Amino acid sequence: MKIFYNKTELSDHIDALKANDNTIGFVPTMGALHNGHLSLVNKGLSENDIIVVSIFVNPTQFDNQDDLVKYPRTLEADVALLKTVSDKTIIVYAPTVEDIYGDNIKSQSFTFDGLEHEMEGAFRDGHFDGVGTIVKRLLEIVKPDNAYFGEKDFQQLQIIKKLAELNHIPVKIIGCKIHRAEDGLAMSSRNTRLTPEHRTIAPFIYKTLKTAKTKFGTKSAKYVTEWVEKQFKKQPLLELEYFIIADIATLKPAKRKSTKKSYRAFIAVYAGDIRLIDNIALN
Ligand code: PAF
Repeated sequence: MKIFYNKTELSDHIDALKANDNTIGFVPTMGALHNGHLSLVNKGLSENDIIVVSIFVNPTQFDNQDDLVKYPRTLEADVALLKTVSDKTIIVYAPTVEDIYGDNIKSQSFTFDGLEHEMEGAFRDGHFDGVGTIVKRLLEIVKPDNAYFGEKDFQQLQIIKKLAELNHIPVKIIGCKIHRAEDGLAMSSRNTRLTPEHRTIAPFIYKTLKTAKTKFGTKSAKYVTEWVEKQFKKQPLLELEYFIIADIATLKPAKRKSTKKSYRAFIAVYAGDIRLIDNIALN
């Protein structure tokens, strides 16, 4: 498996592949790869000749220094896992912070038609400027035909579609279904940091989302939101940060239900120190 640590070498290699008519798919990650990432890689492999997987814990998207320091870094295991999928058609790009940022570890300021102010944008200061900065740079380096992002970070997915559109980046952004553990917990690299007690209780998040979806069939967004908030008050091991039912186009909270709009419920929960997010399509 080819592993690149330097953007110029990677870029030259990709140019040669493209000159030979290979299509390039891209799966950007922060490593600590799990089956959710592999499902993006496999989808990418079914639609492109070559998949580039970037593994880079991007410092500018963390609003919490402790989370950045403790974020799992497991490059060797990640490469071994990718090799089980394909040795030849996957390329890894594992840059240093310097390769991406030089000596200026700062994010650019973006606007994404207001999508950046809702939910994660409201609770994680500067997060989407950091995500926008790294994804724009990576797309410029890799120049993929298609790029794959998980719907677990649904707001991020919508923002990256907007980033590509507003900056005229010639790439198709493809959203992929949330991959879940058997008990329903959405796959996340942060799950490995849960205590056994928190891991046992964490599927409560998806279970509650599923019931919220059923209730939304007949009840208002306000009613369902209050019901969810009540369920979490009874659950001392999990602390609800937000539960919001939003229109997927604007990500603004739903006030009055309209049959013409598509809604999703979004949730962020602390399990001890670990922040987990999830979401579910409602209609
Ligand atoms: O979703 C992630 O893992 C990250 O936000 C991404 C897209 C790799 C950018 O660092």
